[in-house]
Parts: sequence; structure tokens; C-alpha cells
Amino acid sequence: MVVTMMGRREGSLLRSPPSTAMRGSRIAIAVAIGVFFGCIFALLFPNGLFRFDSSQEHRITSRSSRVANSSPCESPERINMLKSEMVTLSQKNAELKKQIRELTSKLHLAEQGTDQAQKQVLLLGEQRKAGPFGTVKGLRTNPTVLPDESVNPMLAKLLEKVAVQKELIVCLANRNVKNMLEVWFESLKRVRIPNYLVVALDDEIEALCKSNDVPVYRRKPEEGIDSIGRTGGNHAISGLKFRILREFLQLGYSILLSDVDIVYLQNPFEHLYRDSDVESMSDGHDNFTAYGYNDVFDDAKMGWARFAHTMRIWVFNSGFFYIRPTIPSIELLDRVATRLATDSKAWDQAVFNEELFYPSHPGYEGLHASKRTMDMFEFMNSKVLFRTVRNNENYRKLKPVIVHVNYHPDKFPRMKAVVEFYVNGKKDALQPFPEGSAW
Ligand SMILES: *[C@@H]1O[C@H](CO)[C@@H](O)[C@H](O)[C@H]1NC(C)=O
Repeated sequence: MVVTMMGRREGSLLRSPPSTAMRGSRIAIAVAIGVFFGCIFALLFPNGLFRFDSSQEHRITSRSSRVANSSPCESPERINMLKSEMVTLSQKNAELKKQIRELTSKLHLAEQGTDQAQKQVLLLGEQRKAGPFGTVKGLRTNPTVLPDESVNPMLAKLLEKVAVQKELIVCLANRNVKNMLEVWFESLKRVRIPNYLVVALDDEIEALCKSNDVPVYRRKPEEGIDSIGRTGGNHAISGLKFRILREFLQLGYSILLSDVDIVYLQNPFEHLYRDSDVESMSDGHDNFTAYGYNDVFDDAKMGWARFAHTMRIWVFNSGFFYIRPTIPSIELLDRVATRLATDSKAWDQAVFNEELFYPSHPGYEGLHASKRTMDMFEFMNSKVLFRTVRNNENYRKLKPVIVHVNYHPDKFPRMKAVVEFYVNGKKDALQPFPEGSAW
């Protein structure tokens, strides 16, 4: 009660002076206008337009004590005074204009930075000091988005049932990959992974999943996107994949995107770091190619500076990656989908990597997503398996988490051979296959 009354009293106390002041300033403005016109008349009619009693004349002594009274400007002294006052005012005016210009440009800059700044605040929280040498660590684990169920309530319900700790494996499939899909989900069942989902792109795949107790999601046929899914080849489906994945991320789920030519031998969720926006298996085949190296380019004509150093890394495999539901991740999906939609020759894996790795440069704003390459022996591509692992006594003892038959066109028989070798212990199951394949 007391507080309220105090507030009220304060309010009323505060209110009266400004209104008085405002009235005062209005009067002052009126006077100033009068003086201004008087001045013009004085210049036009130096001898006076009207006659005034000298007793009615008042002197303006200072700007603050202008009194409401019509005062003729007859004396040159007064004219000079008013002129100098005008000079002062126009100087002031120029100064204010300059301030407006400065503030406008500041505002403009601020608007440009708003988006970034907001994200930064979100990421960094409070501004902090750097801390001692060797103790600082930048952010690579970006905050996840707020789940938005409204983007697809039906899928949201389904994911609630299928996902484990807001994570699941997602695979897109149409009838062209039916054989491999069977090997795929049998391998998942064998290692008792419950959190996976097939996005069925046609009736046949939906039926296959249902009859095998495989969690399946059939999208409602939708504006053009899905016709690609039913008829399209591998590359077209890859484009669709990025569009569909977006919804999963918007719903707040981390997705382990999986192609169908993959055999699961352990639960991958027990082998993830989850510290980056994108954690991907590599197309590389050794420490250098998988994890990055300094590739020296020799330009002999440059003499002393003949060696130019370049950064190289074999691409991330866009057929098997773990993606967290963050803003950079969703931006990645959007950028890739946009480029695939506008350039029919674009290959999704190349686009995926370019968007991930190219830095900002003039005319281009790079994506700044954090990334991690998966262990190449845990998440093994078929080049590593058929070229290195099967020929090495020690490597043969390793048990991968998954094997991705990405390097070979005879995927189905090689997938079955992987199962024979790793699951059924058939030691020579991998031997009949050539290292590479006919060109
Ligand atoms: C590759 O890197 C791992 C980990 O750093 C190391 O243990 C291994 O010896 C390396 N392999 C080769 C062939 O250099």
C-alpha cells in the first residue's frame, strides 16, 4: 500500500514540471517565430511597417528570458544579434544532422549484425575473459533448437515412440533398394538397436517394413518432393533426404542418417562423441586421407617458394552421418537442398562437403558448423575393408561398428559377405571380391 502511494505521489510530482516546461517552451517557440518574422520585416522595411510606442518595446536580454511580446526589429544592433543567433542555430542544426547521420549508420550496422549477434549471445552467454594460456576452448557443441512439433505432428508422435534419448537412425528407401534394405534392418535387429526408422518412399517398402516389424514412416505425398522419391535414382533421393531430414531436426531429434548399403555390427550410439553439429564417416582410407593432411604442391618455377602447402581431407560420406538439431545443422541441410534443387548436375556428397568446409570469402558466406570425422575403423568404408583390413592380420581382428559398402557397385553380395565374415565367422567370406571394381 505504502509503495503504491509513494509511487503515485512520485508520479504526480514528476508529472507537473515537464508540463510546465512544455508550456514554457511552446511560448518560447512562438516568440522565436515572431522574432524571426519581425526580423524579415525589418530587413524588407527598414523604416518600419507600423509605428509602436517606445514604451511597449522590450529588450531581449537573453534567450532564456524571452518574453511574449511583439518586438519590432528596428535597430541594426538587434538585427545583428538575431543574425548571430541564427548562425548559432544553423550550426546547431548542422551538428544535429551530423549526429543523425552517424546514428543512422550505426543503426544500419547494428541491424546487419543483429542476427549474428543474437546467435552469438545464445552461444556464448555472458561475455567472459579469456583465461590463462592453454585453458581456453572454443565452442563446438552448439545448443539444440527448441523442438517445434507443429512442423509435423504426426511424425512427432511417431518419433516419440521410436527414438531413444531423442536419437534415431533414419534411412530413406524405395523399391529399388529392397534387397539391401532387408540386409540393413536384419543387421540392426541382430544387434538389438531399437531406435531406427525407415522413411518409405513407396507402398512396397512400407508393406515390407510393416510385415517385418520395422518402424516405418510413410510421408503423405506432397508437392513434387515425393515423386522424386518414388521414381528417382540415387542422386535424386539424396536431395530429397536433406529436405526430409530438416523436419526431424526441427522436431528436436539428433539423426544418424544412414544409407541402405550399410551393415550394423554394433550399436553406433555407443560410439558417438556428440560434440559437433555433424559427425560423419569418411571416404578416406588412412590417417592422412580420413583426418586431414598438409598436401604440398610443388611449383618449381617459383624457386625458393616452390612449395605451396594445401589442406586436404577426403570427403565426409553423406550417406552416413550423425547430425545434431542445431541452427548450423539446419542451415547446412537448407543450403545443400537449395543447391541440389537449383543445379541438376550437383552431386549431393560434393555439395554437402563444400558447404561444410569452404570458408567465407568475397561474395560467399561460409557455413560455420562444427564437424568431426568418425573413426575410420569403427565406421568403416568398403575401401578400407577390402583393401586394408581383410589383408592385415591385426586389422582383421577389429570389429567395426558399421561397414558401409560405398566404394563398390556390387553392394548386395558384398553386404552379405560382410555379414558372413563378421557375424557368422566365415574367415574367407571377403576373399572372392576384387579390391576395386571394373571401370
Ligand atoms: C594412425 O593414427 C593412430 C592414432 O593417432 C595411430 O595409433 C596409428 O598408428 C596411425 N596409423 C598409421 C599407419 O600411422
